[in-house]
Amino acid sequence: MNIVLVGAQFGDEGKGKIIDLLSENSDYIVRYQGGNNAGHTVEVNGVQFILHLIPSGILHPGKKCVIGNGVVVNPAALLEEMDYLKSKEVHVDEHNLYISETVHLIFPYHQQLDALKEKRRGRDAIGTTKKGIGPAYSDKAARTGIRLVDLFDENRFFRKLKENVEFENEIFEKVFHVPPVNFEEIFNQYLEYGKRLKSYSCNVVQLLNKAVKEGKSVLFEGAQGTLLDLDFGTYPYVTSSHPISGGACVGTGLSPKSLHNIMGVLKAYTTRVGEGPFPTEFLDGMQEQVRSQGKEYGATTGRPRRCGWFDACLARYSVMLNGVDSLALTKLDVLSGMEKIKICVAYRYQDKTFDVWPHDISVLRSCEPVYEEIEGWNENLNGVKRYEDLPQSTRKYIERISELLETKVKIISVGADREQTIFI
Ligand code: IMP
Repeated sequence: MNIVLVGAQFGDEGKGKIIDLLSENSDYIVRYQGGNNAGHTVEVNGVQFILHLIPSGILHPGKKCVIGNGVVVNPAALLEEMDYLKSKEVHVDEHNLYISETVHLIFPYHQQLDALKEKRRGRDAIGTTKKGIGPAYSDKAARTGIRLVDLFDENRFFRKLKENVEFENEIFEKVFHVPPVNFEEIFNQYLEYGKRLKSYSCNVVQLLNKAVKEGKSVLFEGAQGTLLDLDFGTYPYVTSSHPISGGACVGTGLSPKSLHNIMGVLKAYTTRVGEGPFPTEFLDGMQEQVRSQGKEYGATTGRPRRCGWFDACLARYSVMLNGVDSLALTKLDVLSGMEKIKICVAYRYQDKTFDVWPHDISVLRSCEPVYEEIEGWNENLNGVKRYEDLPQSTRKYIERISELLETKVKIISVGADREQTIFI
């Protein structure tokens, strides 16, 4: 069975933990988009791992982890992550980590451009992670990008890099009035990276199609979330890739026929990092309360996450876009101790009511959420192992979400550890 696991909100839904759980029954775990803007947190026996590029499946011995062509790779960050895992005694070599030879690379000038453009946008800044993601995907779309395979041909790499560095340096000097970047330094550094990564580089299209043909199971690890999708998210407050389930095919070279099951991950409330519309955002003391109870700080940038009530309009849109078959509901334990819990079931805009996410962000910004209230619960959920043992009002909350989204909740997470999980 090949499963795509997608974030069904704005990212940070707790995908890392669910991927880790599903990895046990998968042969291949594959990243298909994004880059080291992602931060997947997994806790194993009290030890915390934060992964940015390498699929979380790496924590399971014997599993094969793949970085597909849809990912943008910062080789320095990738090598650092490989060293970090090795230092924690996690096995990483060319028999359990495969990198598509056609991944586009992130260069230092991409990161610098990301930061400079954000600064120039001023009040309209997107709030990017400043990892160079947007500029690297821009080069890919403009057909000037440099791929992993280019590092293995010194002459070709020299020519391509020279052209890009010359162009970017003109922008740095003439538009941003900052010093140019050094070609030689980048060239030599990336040739070195190429040497270290060569044995991991392979034809992922062939690798995965062969695996599927042999009946192996593939788990696709989505990064970010549906509402950050370049086409379907709150443009321009989005990332530059396709986190939706459809992205799994474009980002790996497996056909849509190979996807058997789509699981959406939803946090029991909503969070967002960076700018952009967020209709159910808390406007009162709840913001601080949930942020500190849920430890809502970005795993990549450390920025405080914006928090709000569960939004069924947003989630309904995600379920539809991704073709979600089942749901994983995470961080339910964070909501303990609230007298009432709200669910946004529709939006009011002027004299209209929407039950699905509108595309126009100015409409979205003026939408007023229509809330339904549910009784809260006081019990600590961290130790609950069975669905029947959850407080009645917790079950009611889960059932209402499932009903509103017309989709079954199959996994419930009540704490960071693998063990703190309820399967229904
Ligand atoms: P970028 O992906 O760095 O270009 O950032 C674009 C937007 O996506 C910003 O609002 C970021 O905060 C957000 N973003 C990027 N990666 C993640 C993630 O892994 N989790 C949550 N938000 C993210």
